[in-house]
Amino acid sequence: MNLISAAPLDVLRTRTSEKWTEHPPDVLPMFVAEMDYPLAEPITRALHDAVDRGDTGYVSSSNPVFEAFRGFAARRWSWDLTEATLLSTADVSMGIVEILRAITGPGDRVVITEPVYPPFFDLVTEAGASVLAVPLTESTTNPVERRLDLAALETAFRDGARVFLLCNPHNPLGLVHPRDDLEAVATLAATYSVTVISDEIHAPLTQPTARFTPYLSVSDEARATGFAVHSASKAWNIAGLKCAVMVAQSEQPASVLVSLPLEVSWRTGQFGVLASVAAYAQGDTWLDGVLGSLAANFDLLDRLLAEHLAGVTWTRPDASYLAWLDFRALGWGDDPAGLILREARVALSAGSDFGAHGVGHVRMNLACSPELLTDAVRRIAQIPRRS
Ligand SMILES: Cc1ncc(COP(=O)(O)O)c(C=O)c1O
Repeated sequence: MNLISAAPLDVLRTRTSEKWTEHPPDVLPMFVAEMDYPLAEPITRALHDAVDRGDTGYVSSSNPVFEAFRGFAARRWSWDLTEATLLSTADVSMGIVEILRAITGPGDRVVITEPVYPPFFDLVTEAGASVLAVPLTESTTNPVERRLDLAALETAFRDGARVFLLCNPHNPLGLVHPRDDLEAVATLAATYSVTVISDEIHAPLTQPTARFTPYLSVSDEARATGFAVHSASKAWNIAGLKCAVMVAQSEQPASVLVSLPLEVSWRTGQFGVLASVAAYAQGDTWLDGVLGSLAANFDLLDRLLAEHLAGVTWTRPDASYLAWLDFRALGWGDDPAGLILREARVALSAGSDFGAHGVGHVRMNLACSPELLTDAVRRIAQIPRRS
């Protein structure tokens, strides 16, 4: 396997995306979920060719991303989508909001499992529903093991929650939910008439040592009321291009998708489709190289923490490129990310944005070069100890 190397820092600093423009150049940006790798060659080629053709109009109504995604899902996850209803939109967030708008009324409760991707809080309220946070369980073992709290989910469902917005795999923990847990969720959802929306944006980034289970693949119960939302945007770093795919695999959810306003799918980006087709159809080799580079960075972070930041704990992710670091033992207060930005000039995501259980934590983006990661940890380790 050929590992994929991050682009040189001087090239990255010429990028104009959020990651490389939010902070001045003395800051190492490790916050927003963008990757520092160069684009996969099939994507670069597809985009260059489209520019050469002037192929910048609206997405075709026979959208080719569906066939490419079906192929990828079958190849990587043995997920058969031959009969599925697929609908595209601009991004995963929009897919979630539009499904929520269609299936909830004002104030209906939507369960999210914090600590979780911060915009989940906003997407629920944007759709007019209200958030019900059911934290993940937290074991006392080391490394800390977290998973869905099935008993607490049952209580929430029994008490009238309408929807469960599942993060599968889970951001920020990189937790790939075990199939048993997903089956149990589907049974609870069927028992209490709860709709599950499974955000599976991080799924292609599952390490070969773990096994991603598409929520809708677990049972008839899951398919009966569940939706999944996918995108190539995280795994191939094309979030700016705007293409996501909503999935339904039974009659009732399919009827929701086909009755969404036509504009929902017209908002899909043409470059997003072209790049996603290249990613799903020809992007496996690049993706495997990225997974190898990320695994090497996980090993490196383990070593760096042991050497320079003893007391900071984390659980090695099974998917994606985000590290959830617990700084509480260092006595750096509720917002270590703020302190680290001020004193070490490293930009991380503040744990408290992920929900009340994120206080004292930070999220670090590891889709970078080993050199940048090493520099970041060394800088953080220079901060004088408080405890
Ligand atoms: C779990 C999760 N869902 C959705 C998104 C946003 O995806 P999009 O840009 O397609 O809306 C992210 C971005 O990092 C994410 O981590």
